[in-house]
Order: sequence, then structure tokens, then C-alpha cells
Amino acid sequence: MGYEVKNAQLRKWVDEVTALCTPDNIHWCDGSQEEYDSLCSQLVQSGTFRKLNNDKRPNSYLAWSDPIDVARVEDRTFICSLSKQDAGPTNNWMHPKEMKEKLGDLFKGCMKGRTMYVIPFSMGPLGSPIAKIGVEISDSPYVAVNMKIMTRMGKQVVDVLGDGEFVPCLHSVGAPLAPGQKDVAWPCNKEKYIVHFPEERAIWSFGSGYGGNALLGKKCLALRIASKQGKDEGWLAEHMLILGVQSPTGEKTYVGAAFPSACGKTNFAMLIPPKPLQDKGWKVTTLGDDIAWIKPGPDGQVYAINPEYGYFGVAPGTNTKTNPNAMASCAANTIFTNVALTEDGDVWWEGMTDEPPAKLTDWQGNAWTPDCGRPAAHPNSRFTAPASQCPCVDPDWENPKGVPMSAFIFGGRRKDTVPLVYQAFNWNFGVYLASTLGSETTAAAVGATGNVRRDPFAMLPFCGYHMADYFGHWLQFGRTVPKPPRIFSVNWFRKDANGKFIWPGYGDNMRVLKWIVERVQGKAAAVESPLGWMPRYEDMDWDGLDMTREKFNDLMSVDRDVWQNELVAHEELFVKLFDRLPKEFLHMRELITSSLWRSPEHWEQAAGATANEGWND
Ligand code: OXD
Ligand code: MN
Repeated sequence: MGYEVKNAQLRKWVDEVTALCTPDNIHWCDGSQEEYDSLCSQLVQSGTFRKLNNDKRPNSYLAWSDPIDVARVEDRTFICSLSKQDAGPTNNWMHPKEMKEKLGDLFKGCMKGRTMYVIPFSMGPLGSPIAKIGVEISDSPYVAVNMKIMTRMGKQVVDVLGDGEFVPCLHSVGAPLAPGQKDVAWPCNKEKYIVHFPEERAIWSFGSGYGGNALLGKKCLALRIASKQGKDEGWLAEHMLILGVQSPTGEKTYVGAAFPSACGKTNFAMLIPPKPLQDKGWKVTTLGDDIAWIKPGPDGQVYAINPEYGYFGVAPGTNTKTNPNAMASCAANTIFTNVALTEDGDVWWEGMTDEPPAKLTDWQGNAWTPDCGRPAAHPNSRFTAPASQCPCVDPDWENPKGVPMSAFIFGGRRKDTVPLVYQAFNWNFGVYLASTLGSETTAAAVGATGNVRRDPFAMLPFCGYHMADYFGHWLQFGRTVPKPPRIFSVNWFRKDANGKFIWPGYGDNMRVLKWIVERVQGKAAAVESPLGWMPRYEDMDWDGLDMTREKFNDLMSVDRDVWQNELVAHEELFVKLFDRLPKEFLHMRELITSSLWRSPEHWEQAAGATANEGWND
């Protein structure tokens, strides 16, 4: 075992899994650097990893997955609550007993010929009152080394755990080896199951070695299981980045922001303000880029931690202009998956440089040239990098108490309809806007891209219970917390008639963030619109950006007929969830509808929120 494990429950579970999966060896991960280095060398030997050029990318590795294993598999993800109603209509469900029988068959002997890694990990700073401990058992050394970066992992976790409770997370790539059978570089199974037992707080994952399917601390524990725990215990587990904004007075404001997968969360989390705003004293620091655990504190404010320890960031599109902090974070000690390999042993992906290299090896190991018509990196290719390497990491990112939250931002990818920014009238309207969040789909999950799908709170794939109960939990949270954060909607992705993005995005998102922070501080003006409070052109800082009133109007316009359709689309979601939908939602939808139709002249005058008088005559 290598170290003492007092926890009888853990020892018992490991014995049970050993009997079921019959691995050749058992390795209890201690989380040391030596262990990491030795597992990485082993992965190089087995062909899963390629060591990158140590001068260009110190201590870093590249893995290429099987092309049938490149993203989260939402259609193979299950919430196995005791009753189907508790999983709700947005989750796949099977009765736990039936699922256990199925999984029992699949896991039987599934680790033959392999080593079973026992990976104790903490989501959140070790010993933090907000943190939770999990133990992943996996037959993938790739998972073990990624878990070392993404979580606090190893012996110290077992010490903190003592006799306490942990979430058992069982994972297998589902590729047993017969005696003498040669392994492949990326073992996996075409049959995949990502299964959660929310009442039992247990996770079983079979058949995939990729990202959220396999690194079970992330989406499975920190979102699906934790969301259910949060509901039961009065806190929130959210698909949110956390950032700190330092204003010129030195005041620090912490903000959580939820966006569906691959909407640039990592970029927003690590934003560098435009030079003129920097010169005025604006600065952003990063706590997390994907997940926030949020709890009411004794002083009436809510506090958040990032339960993760690293970034599992989308590579394509990341470069020294769009996100220098992410580029610095993955400059060394990083595992890359499904990006391309350069001739000098470094990595490349679409968008990393203006000019692609003349020759590459693509993510499938084939020779690649710029004119070959194929992407060199998979659109969902990733870097796994330690959060501590981020140059703008917040000094409090490991504070076990968390940081006080002042605002929540919700944003989707919408080429039309949703304005650049607005503030919800109050908590309930904020919950409504977050519940009806829509986004054009991307490559982070398997399936068609480009359609608008409703993604409430960006939690559709990650909520471990009935989505309408989740809305109810948010409403309840707002009722009980004395100082709830303010809620905002943003949309960076609006396009003009020629299909071009209107908003520059990236660092310029600071201008929106500045208005948000100043709203929270009671310093920024706004006008009332049918949707909420909106900035006028003059309420935002355009220093150093060529933003005309006209362009701003295009970004902010709220078209009555378009919104009429949008509200009808909300109904589609509500109908699905009708039996548990909070009644408040129907009233709020009515209120928005009636204010849309308040007066056509008023509407036209106010559209774009440019009139000095704003929405109120
Ligand atoms: C992620 C996702 O990987 O949301 O963070 O898909
Ligand atoms: Mn995510």
C-alpha cells in the first residue's frame, strides 16, 4: 500500500473492486512528483504519451486519443436516482438496481492485464470546510497523472480523510488484456457508461479515457454529485469560473460566471484588461475557470471556492493575444491531449499562431500541411495545466474559506436576440434569465453543432437531479441568503448582417465587467428595459476602443418580435419541466411579455437603450 490507510470503508471498497475487476496489480497513488514522473515515463514507453521537446515545453507530454473517444458523451451519461422523477426529463435515467447489474457485468474482469490505481483526491483546498474528498479507482495511468494536476491528490488526502466519508469513483477504460496481448496507445471501449448514483453519492464510469468522462473529480463529482449534495445541504455547485476584479480604489470584487462548454470561459477567467483600463488601475485575477462551490457565510455573504487544482482548457483558439495567461499556464509541466505535434517536438493547434507551421503531425498521427483540408488539432483538444502556473492566479485561490461573491454572470453563444449585457431586476428575475439560458452548441460534447439549445445555468449536462428542483433550489437560496450576489446576463457572440462578430471580446470584455462591478458598487448608471437594467452608451468605458453608438445599439438591441419568439422558446423548456417548475417562472414570463408590449413608440424609442431618457419616458 505504501502508506497507512485507516479508513475501513475505503479498504473494503478497494477489496470489492479488486475482486470484481481483477487487475494484475494495485497501485495506491501517493501524489509525489517521483510517482508522477515515473508514471509519465511508463506512458511514454507504452506509446500513450510522447515527451515534448524539453527546451520548448519542459516536463510536458502529448497524448492522442482514439478517434472514438474525444469528448464527453452526454447520451451515455446517467443519473440513477431511485425514482425517475428525481432525475428529471433532462437526464438519462435507469433504476440503480438495473444499472448496477449492467455495470456489474461490464466491470467484471475489466482490469485484467492492467494495474489498478487508487487515487485519493480532494476537491477544494485540503481540510477546507467547503472541500470534499473522493477516491477514484482507475485502470488508466493517464487518468492518474491528469488527476495529479487537476486535484489535490495522494497520501495527504488519505491523512485528512481519516475515518471520514468519501465519494467512491470507479473508472475503467473497459479494455482488459488477455495474457500476452499487446496494449494499444489509447485503450477504450465503444460501449460507454458515465453513471451517477446521487443518493448513494457514487460514480461508475466505463469505456472512456477522455476528460470529463474519466477525470471523475470534475464534472461527475464536483458538479453532478455535488449539485445534489448542495441541494440537500443548502449550497450551490455551479459550472462557473471565478474571477477577482481589482478596481482603481484597490477594492476587490469577486464574480462567478457560467457559460456553456467551449464559450471561452478560460479566456474570460484570465482576462487582461485593455491598456487604457489597466492604466486606470483595473486588474483581473483568476480563482477558477470551470467550477465554483458556493456557500452562505456567517456574515450573510456567499463564499466560493474553486474545487479544482488545474485547468483542463480547450486548446484551439488559445494564443498569446487571446489568452497570454493560459499560454503561460501551459508553458511547462502540462499534458496535452489531441493537439498537433510540430517538427521540433512542440505542440500546435488551430489559432495558436496566425501562420500555421508548414508541416505538422496531426492529432491522429498523420502528416499534415496547411492545405490538406483537415484540422491539425481536434476541436475539443485540451491542455491539463497546474492552476499555480497561471500568472494572474488570485492570491486567495487556495483560501479554505473561499472568497465573497458579489455578482453572478450568465452567458450563452447567441448570434442574435440577447444583448451584450443587462442586469436582472432582482434575484428571481436573475434565476429566470439563468434558467432560460440558450446557446449554440459546440464541440465539447458529441453531437451536432450550431443549433440553439436551452442550457439552464450552463448546467444542463451537469445537474445531478431534476432541473426544475434545481431552479427551486436557486430561488430558495436567494430567499435565505441575506446578501445575495447581483445577477447579470452577457452575450459576447452577437453577429451583424454579414455574419461577423460585432463585439471584439477577449480583453475588451473588461468593459462589460467594469460596468458590472460598478453596478455592484452602486457607482454605474443604467436604464430600465423590459429585460432588466441596461447600460447606455455613455455608461460604459470606451477608452481605446472604436465603438460607435450605432454599433453599440446593434449589440444592445432587443427586438420585440424576436423576443416574442424567444419567450415562446422558453415555454418549450417549461413544458418539459412542468410538474416541478416554480410557479414564479410563469409570472415572470408574463411580466416580461407585457413589458415588451408596453407601448410601441416607447419600445422603438428605447430599443438599443440609447435614448438618454432610457426605457422610462
Ligand atoms: C469542460 C466542459 O470540459 O464544460 O469544461 O465540457
Ligand atoms: Mn466546463
